Amino acid sequence: MRRQPYLVANWKMHKGMKEVESFVATFLQNIADMPSGKCDVAIAPQAIHLSLLQNALKNRVGVVAQNCGQSPSGAFTGEVSPVALKEAGVKAVILGHSERRWIFHEADTLITARVLAALEAGLEVILCVGERLVDRKEGKTFLVLEEQLRVLELVPGARLPKITVAYEPVWAIGTGETATPAQAQEAHAFIRQWIHDHFSEITAQSMRLLYGGSAKLENAASLLAEKDVDGLLIGGASLEPLAFAEMVRLGVRSQA
Ligand code: PGA
Repeated sequence: MRRQPYLVANWKMHKGMKEVESFVATFLQNIADMPSGKCDVAIAPQAIHLSLLQNALKNRVGVVAQNCGQSPSGAFTGEVSPVALKEAGVKAVILGHSERRWIFHEADTLITARVLAALEAGLEVILCVGERLVDRKEGKTFLVLEEQLRVLELVPGARLPKITVAYEPVWAIGTGETATPAQAQEAHAFIRQWIHDHFSEITAQSMRLLYGGSAKLENAASLLAEKDVDGLLIGGASLEPLAFAEMVRLGVRSQA
């Protein structure tokens, strides 16, 4: 089954307003010659810049939130409502990112609640899963992935097409140490098989699986060439408009 490549920039807590504006100008200019409909592209800025980005990007590129609250509304100081995100034109939300899990102590129960609230609000979800170095060294990579994927067991079947899974080994995030294409493929194949076993062949074949963790221009093509790597979730390397545009070009080419 053909799965459209999907490249998502995760800007984390980077970029001020002026930097967002100049990024967009350069980026749009550099992707202008690329055929549309060959690679889905999205950017996840800080929450305060979602609308700014939404207005500047003119629909060519989707806007993604980096997190959302676990309820449509309520007394949750500091959280952003998934309903408000949807109203603002946001396409998807990243949930379960390792920085949320390990810095902000978000557990699978909270991540599950956020996933369900996001889907209920009509947002797509990019669910991040991934093992730490210690897990990998102890041979527990698949065990950890399995634990984190269990969030999906509570998602109503009809909403599964709204989910993208991002495999992000924690040891590769922001470290400059990328998983080899073979390591990424091995984890992606495991995730696809898990989806097959828990849902169906159709769901497993249609769900997009992204790789994240020091993905950059130099390694993007070889990662995208792997059978089960359908796209990339890119942190550091996506902050630079020319580098991100060239990665999008590789995404387009991977469809050729
Ligand atoms: P990185 O971040 O590309 O800077 O490693 C990826 C991510 O955290 O999504």
